[in-house]
Amino acid sequence: MLLGVCTIVNSYRYIKSLTMDQQSIERIVHFLGEKNLLSNQQMKLLERPGQSNKFPVSVCINCMREHIPELSTMVIDDAASESLFGVVSDEVYLLSLLKDASTASRILSSTGVACDKVNQIRRLESNLSYPHLMSTVKGDFFLKYNSALGDRYIPRYDPKEVVFQNLLVENVLREYFGDEFTTKTLYPSFSTAENRRRADDSHSELERLTERAIIQPSYSPEFILLSESDDFSLIGKVTGNLVARIFNEAAGFRWSGLLEKYQNEVRDRTWEEFKEWLNNQSWIKKRYGIMMNSEREDLKPFIEEAKKLKLDWEDVITKSYQFWDKGRILTVPDLRPKNTFYHELKGTRIFDFDYLAIQEPSFFAAMVMYFCVKDATDRNISDSDKLTEMASAYLNELITNLEKSRFDDSFRKNITQYFAFTIIARYLPDYIASLATYEKMKSVFHTAKSMLVG
Ligand SMILES: Nc1ncnc2c1ncn2[C@@H]1O[C@H](COP(=O)(O)OP(=O)(O)OP(=O)(O)O)[C@@H](O)[C@H]1O
Ligand SMILES: [Mg+2]
Repeated sequence: MLLGVCTIVNSYRYIKSLTMDQQSIERIVHFLGEKNLLSNQQMKLLERPGQSNKFPVSVCINCMREHIPELSTMVIDDAASESLFGVVSDEVYLLSLLKDASTASRILSSTGVACDKVNQIRRLESNLSYPHLMSTVKGDFFLKYNSALGDRYIPRYDPKEVVFQNLLVENVLREYFGDEFTTKTLYPSFSTAENRRRADDSHSELERLTERAIIQPSYSPEFILLSESDDFSLIGKVTGNLVARIFNEAAGFRWSGLLEKYQNEVRDRTWEEFKEWLNNQSWIKKRYGIMMNSEREDLKPFIEEAKKLKLDWEDVITKSYQFWDKGRILTVPDLRPKNTFYHELKGTRIFDFDYLAIQEPSFFAAMVMYFCVKDATDRNISDSDKLTEMASAYLNELITNLEKSRFDDSFRKNITQYFAFTIIARYLPDYIASLATYEKMKSVFHTAKSMLVG
């Protein structure tokens, strides 16, 4: 089927259907190539083997984003290219409206959050979405805007569904852990988000912006982002404490309240599903394999050292089963210092939720430990003493604060093994792909080693 220039009632749905339409993708690539709009790098990306169809669509979207003025004046004689350009230019236009304080004022008053005039709106740095801070005389508000195109990659859901999922996770967590566990969304309400999640896009620009937005009070500068602290031991300790709380309070969770009503939205509810995900969908096993089979000379010493750690994926998973059986837990998979606000007296508030999942506790604990290290190396911290100090503080705080005796030495061991797997799986292949420096790779490797033996 060729996607034509019919009326597009939902931009994200259009993009998704395009990813399933090989013929239209080829025509768009051909059109952009013929007009000399694809850069050398984009052409190389398109030739990369083994990519899903989402990938060429992302490349075409990015190419169109970079050439809006030229494309606007061109006769686009290919229907699929014309439709995609219609969506891309509309999305870019919507985003440009957010630069304007008067648009922000209209959004804020239409949501009923505040009738104040927005004096200034500025975009914050992020990877996936479009977070903004709006200043008014009565204080600052945070606005997170979700685009149908995402930032660099096509998002997992329609922006209205992203808003709903965020609200669902926030509300479930608040039911479980109390009002001060997460940041508080002021707009939309849960029921508004639910009513909109599968709807067409609204006609008016203001409504389209509003239905994709999440508005919260601004937690900065009162709170700091935990990932930005210079005290690495504090980062580890605070995060370990947060995870211990989740273990203690979410152990033996019940399918009650909101969680009962929305249980089908929770991922990996059985051991079989979780194990299948670990083996076939999570990137860890695959990337670890790539690393250990590398022929590169500069990696040989690391591969030799890694072999000495005697990590065995099957064995770690088998051990996992006992912890799953004794107390699988409800988790937010993206829990990390970068998604945690911290205040010395008021404690922590977590944010940035994609979905809820049930996980095996030692695996979850290891992932959060890995994220502590990742958030630090993303700031170019590659001092293995600091990384080890943070990881040890995390693990000690977590283990000391666990109430349940079911978590013994074997639990600690499983955490460190999953952590070592993940670190090797992430940084060494990143080094091969020139995304990590030699220093970074060496440093995280030493951290993994000292956690395993320490
Ligand atoms: N309520 C809030 N008040 C002030 N700033 C906030 C608030 N919520 C989030 N932020 C800021 O916005 C940034 C991005 O938010 P969030 O993590 O939800 O989006 P993201 O697209 O997942 O970004 P990233 O990929 O960088 O994690 C945060 O790092 C934080 O600095
Ligand atoms: Mg985030």
